[in-house]
Amino acid sequence: MPTTTTPTTITPGRILISQESIQARVRELGVAVTKYYRGERPLFLGVMNGALFFLTDLLREVDLETEISCIRLASYAGMASTGEIRGLEALGESFAGRRILVVDDILDTGLTLAKLVRQLHQLGAEEVKICVLLQKQRNRELPIEADWIGFKIADEFVVGYGLDYNGRYRGLKHIQVAEEV
Ligand code: IMP
Ligand code: MG
Repeated sequence: MPTTTTPTTITPGRILISQESIQARVRELGVAVTKYYRGERPLFLGVMNGALFFLTDLLREVDLETEISCIRLASYAGMASTGEIRGLEALGESFAGRRILVVDDILDTGLTLAKLVRQLHQLGAEEVKICVLLQKQRNRELPIEADWIGFKIADEFVVGYGLDYNGRYRGLKHIQVAEEV
């Protein structure tokens, strides 16, 4: 029998953040964001698809009149960030003079959000703040920090609660560490 190399498969492993912990933290973030924008009508700009769960849960926890919009950017192939941003044509909407809260699943290299923030300012946004559920502890390729962070995590690849590995595992209730098997 010829020997064949088995391709590595990525599956969800250890639970890093449970559904209950996510819920509790999103509630706290909702309170903090509400306090900051009190009396304003901010535009919540969700970065799809990863921020899908976080955006909708966060919106239920804020007590504000918000506008909601979504954009789609893709900078990942497998587990490596390409830094490439596609889909910015969707930014044709009117961002001029708006106070915008960018809502994303995770801040990793920072390439995606740094470019997005720059584009929003070019389009005349009055203010751009960032709210992420997760922030990875690593050296960012561009100096960017989120204004609100759900959890700081180690530099591990995670899936669930909107986060995917090549389109898979977004629907998991907990955030789990991706493991090779
Ligand atoms: P950045 O440009 O490297 O900061 O990439 C940010 C985007 O990459 C996020 O919005 C996610 O969609 C994706 N990403 C980064 N790290 C992970 C991860 O651990 N699991 C799933 N997606 C990730
Ligand atoms: Mg994303």
